[in-house]
Amino acid sequence: MSDTQYPSVKDLTLEEKASLTSGEDAWHLQSVEGKGIPGYMITDGPHGLRKSDSTTGNVDVNHSVPATCFPPAAGMSSSWDPELADRVGRAMAEECIQEKVAVILGPGVNIKRNPLGGRCFEFWSEDPFLAGHEAAGIVTGVQSQGIGTSLKHFAVNNQETNRMHVSARVGQRALREIYLPAFEHIVKTAQPWTVMCAYNRVNGVHAAQDSWLLTKVLRDEWGFKGIVMSDWGADHDRVASLNAGLNLEMPPSFTDDQVVKAVREGRLSEDQLDRMAQGMIDLVEKARPAMGKEGYRYDVEAHNQVARQAALESMVLLKNEDGILPVRQGEKVAVIGEFARTPRYQGGGSSHITPTRLSSFLDAVRERGEAVDFVPGFTLDDAAQDRALSDQALEAASKADKVLLFMGLPEEAESEGFDRTTLDLPAKQVDLLKAIAGVNANVAVILSNGSVVSLAPWRDQAKGIMESWLLGQDGGQALADVIYGDVSPSGKLAQTIPMDLDDDPTMVNWPGEEGHVDYGEGIYVGYRYYDTFHKQVAYPFGFGLSYADFRIDGVSAQADGKGGVQVKARVSNLSDVDGAEVVQVYVAPHSRRVSRPAHELKGFKRVFLKAGHSAEIAIDLDARAFAYWSEAYGDWHVEGGTYGIQVGSSSRDISAQVDLDLPDDGKRLPLDEWSTLREWEDDPVGGPIVDKMKAEGEAGRLPRVDEGDDSPASFLAGMPINSFSVLAGKDGTKLTSFLLDEYARQTGTK
Ligand code: BGC
Repeated sequence: MSDTQYPSVKDLTLEEKASLTSGEDAWHLQSVEGKGIPGYMITDGPHGLRKSDSTTGNVDVNHSVPATCFPPAAGMSSSWDPELADRVGRAMAEECIQEKVAVILGPGVNIKRNPLGGRCFEFWSEDPFLAGHEAAGIVTGVQSQGIGTSLKHFAVNNQETNRMHVSARVGQRALREIYLPAFEHIVKTAQPWTVMCAYNRVNGVHAAQDSWLLTKVLRDEWGFKGIVMSDWGADHDRVASLNAGLNLEMPPSFTDDQVVKAVREGRLSEDQLDRMAQGMIDLVEKARPAMGKEGYRYDVEAHNQVARQAALESMVLLKNEDGILPVRQGEKVAVIGEFARTPRYQGGGSSHITPTRLSSFLDAVRERGEAVDFVPGFTLDDAAQDRALSDQALEAASKADKVLLFMGLPEEAESEGFDRTTLDLPAKQVDLLKAIAGVNANVAVILSNGSVVSLAPWRDQAKGIMESWLLGQDGGQALADVIYGDVSPSGKLAQTIPMDLDDDPTMVNWPGEEGHVDYGEGIYVGYRYYDTFHKQVAYPFGFGLSYADFRIDGVSAQADGKGGVQVKARVSNLSDVDGAEVVQVYVAPHSRRVSRPAHELKGFKRVFLKAGHSAEIAIDLDARAFAYWSEAYGDWHVEGGTYGIQVGSSSRDISAQVDLDLPDDGKRLPLDEWSTLREWEDDPVGGPIVDKMKAEGEAGRLPRVDEGDDSPASFLAGMPINSFSVLAGKDGTKLTSFLLDEYARQTGTK
């Protein structure tokens, strides 16, 4: 073995190869002593490094070495800023280098199917395009420093209820269009070193044993080059998993002997074991340069600044009547709510980080020298409201020009491991808001929560609402920057806020029963449902206000001749404050041979503009932006027809739409007796044959096809051609035969 290369799998014994396919303990790969293969550490993730400081090697989520706690994805996703994600990724990787961690376990790009999902705070969006394009930044950033990522949880892990075993029963189209594309995009563009399979089953098969998922789709179709590891405890059958394409079982079940035995008995081919084990050697090889850096120290302050910038971009201003925000010089402000003093800045479970420092809004405000009157208002436990706290809050509110009321979900309310059962905030907080609004009309609510909470029941009581999600360790400072107007809020919702939980299309099948959950809503998740079926929402996908005013105009769209479209627009900051706008491009297909959402996000660009400035932007859409997953083709398919290219600042604020006629992708399904007359007419071979058949009818040599009176065109057009006898009696079969014979002759199939 040379200094620069590890041995190949061919140099290892069967036992050594088997050992590489499971961990040493909960956080380490197995080393192969004697062959020089080290057992590097791999650990969580995803919004900072959670390196357990326990020496037992066991799972212990609450004790970890200090690391920068960046905003969890709930916040970061609202930035619509992949470059920011890249910067956060670089910083996380530097912390990994210092702590000798070869792979950080994240990002988690599962779709927020239902806002009750316990890990919505860790996942990026209800929209796969947004999730994939933002989280790709984490992967590129981390890996640019020679540290690996683990894209998780592959796939269809959208709930916590029964997460180890539930079977997500989801159709092929929804899989391809909603649940897989974020993974697909990141694999194809950023090649994460590892992918983590999900706990759950997908259509009955445990993800760890699903060769369709792990081999056919991930490797053969998307070209994934890295290794797949199990989620912690997701591997229930070493041999089945290795056969399916799972390289690494975590944590170990100490069953390497079963793998050896399976090879000896022919239940696992040695070639397959070699492939899986070689992947592990390749992973170690990739991490070696970074793991060899001795004495590396990251810059704690600089990373805190990155966390602050990320927090600044994560906040979404939902409401700002009478310009209640920002707070202005000289205003007498009452700050009410325990969250102002005790920030809720991250979620619970395996992502729980010990931050290097922590800022609260209250500390930050006092550091700025602002004199504010603070009262806690309520406690964060579920004890009944303390009357004295309410009285104190009302008194503070009545003496102030403005009230900043910090409301949110206490830590216990949402975490990995369970789903929420309600979107409601604790009643005592809402009651307090109502009471405060009775004594002071100028209330701005600042929210802290990882997933959507219901706003409709109380939003009329507040002139301002700032959804600050979970902002990571420097969220307090960032909030002060925004609340006091140094920085304009620029976040946009990555998740729709519904009027009511029961409006959510997935509620009919949530969270499933008897071991399965039916994804009956298909592709109609989030705004795809609300916008297509014209449902009222509290705040739409993509929405977010700013202190600045923007205009989007000059929209044009031009086909690039390769199936894609280039979209151009001008965005202008019309105000006298600096700010950032996110220009969003949605594609609205007009022709709907299959059911399609009213529109779907296919491009976006965040643009920072100084006061009074404008910029021309261009956003490229590729052919895939127009495709749907066709179960008939078993492939993506672009129908020819008109597509609306919508450019705007949320899914419901479309500034302009340009209609383009695009050709189809040339794919054809063979016609047969079950194809409808319309399908025949639309087909380049079938169409002329139908014309010929009609001409023959006119000439009296075949029965006449009468589309006029008693057989409306659409009725006939929708019938399979083997049903002509229903309309034309016995002679109808002549029409069917004519079409089929002619088609077979022309296509050479006869
Ligand atoms: C979680 C993963 C995490 C792993 C290791 C699992 O319970 O689902 O997201 O990376 O634990 O902590």
